[in-house]
Amino acid sequence: MPFDVSRIREDFPILRQRVHDRPLVYLDNAATTQRPASVIAAISNYYSADNSNVHRGVHDLSERATRSYEEARVKVQRFLHARDPREIVFVRGTTEAINLVAQSYCRRLIQSGDEILVSAMEHHSNIVPWQMISEERGAALRVIPINDQGEINLDDFDKLLSDRTRFVSVPHVSHVLGTVNPIKEIVEMAHRRNVAVLVDGAQSAPHLLEIDVSDLDCDFYAFSGHKLYGPTGIGVLYGKSHLFESMIPYQGGGDMISSVSFEKTIYNAPPYKFEAGTPNIAGVIGLGAAIDYLKLIGSEAATAYEQELLSYAMSSLSEVRGVRVVGTAAKKAAVISFVVENVHPHDVGTILDLEGIAVRTGHCCAEPLMRRFGLTAVTRASIAFYNTKNEIDSLISGLARVRETFN
Ligand SMILES: Cc1ncc(COP(=O)(O)O)c(C=O)c1O
Repeated sequence: MPFDVSRIREDFPILRQRVHDRPLVYLDNAATTQRPASVIAAISNYYSADNSNVHRGVHDLSERATRSYEEARVKVQRFLHARDPREIVFVRGTTEAINLVAQSYCRRLIQSGDEILVSAMEHHSNIVPWQMISEERGAALRVIPINDQGEINLDDFDKLLSDRTRFVSVPHVSHVLGTVNPIKEIVEMAHRRNVAVLVDGAQSAPHLLEIDVSDLDCDFYAFSGHKLYGPTGIGVLYGKSHLFESMIPYQGGGDMISSVSFEKTIYNAPPYKFEAGTPNIAGVIGLGAAIDYLKLIGSEAATAYEQELLSYAMSSLSEVRGVRVVGTAAKKAAVISFVVENVHPHDVGTILDLEGIAVRTGHCCAEPLMRRFGLTAVTRASIAFYNTKNEIDSLISGLARVRETFN
């Protein structure tokens, strides 16, 4: 069945608006996606009908809230093809998930002289937590280089792996270049040296939609709800059971304990050990609704359609004089960063905004990657399955306007 994008767009109320008296063209999906009405309704229903704290009350409302919260955990488990719901921890987002692993797993593991490997295409969220741990423990951060297309060469990765390597943290899909990294191979190579791997899935969950952590065999996988058509303030850390069992809690407080006395606290089992305090219940329920929605529309059809838009956008952009795309990997998701000759990306973004087109401009939280390409900033158009070829045409006309203005 062909992917009916007009029908899909009806599910997203925000897309109906006009901006600067033009139809909104939302191409900033890598920053955050929009939410379908079913996600907004699930949050609203929770607050209207079931609002209560989870895992605490014996009353009906609390039981209903707890049921929905735990059902959402199972939905995430199935979405990721994890083996057990206890491998799913709810956090604020990818950033918190990475910090949790840095503090709870790596802090005890890392010794002076050890090395943590990240790649040249990282989001700051997958750099700073590792720098913090490295500084504290006297370890070093080593960087896996990328080629001019924005791809990791596995031989370079192999050369960096050594007896000093203690942890590897890499993105599945680059938020600037769109590159889809060879995660399975990276995990296999790291495991040969007994090194655990975290996969930053902030962009792969929304763009690949079919995530199989059991097949990837990664040790940790992190993603954010708000980039997966779900709410802000909620995200997921997947971790293998035996690792979660061995890890110390990230934060202390209610719900993460099994018993407390002034002398000693016994921690709860995973995943609760890592969910201190009242969680973002509405966020979890909204994320569950987002996963339901993706199942309903069919992830295979959605990703195939996104790839079609990506090819269309890449070939259209190649015909715009003075535009250069940064990130041309053979395996690429629908994230396109580019520079327009002699025009600052902020000016590009401002002119496009006047046309109703929302794109991201700046360093995109990837300053080291910008330096790798000799840039300080890019314009990034990131596509979702609710975008259309007409919207790509609007982007191309908007860029023609940019050229006219600056020539
Ligand atoms: C690849 C990648 N990692 C991490 C993050 C951080 O996600 P969040 O701000 O939702 O924690 C982002 C957000 O843009 C991202 O694209």
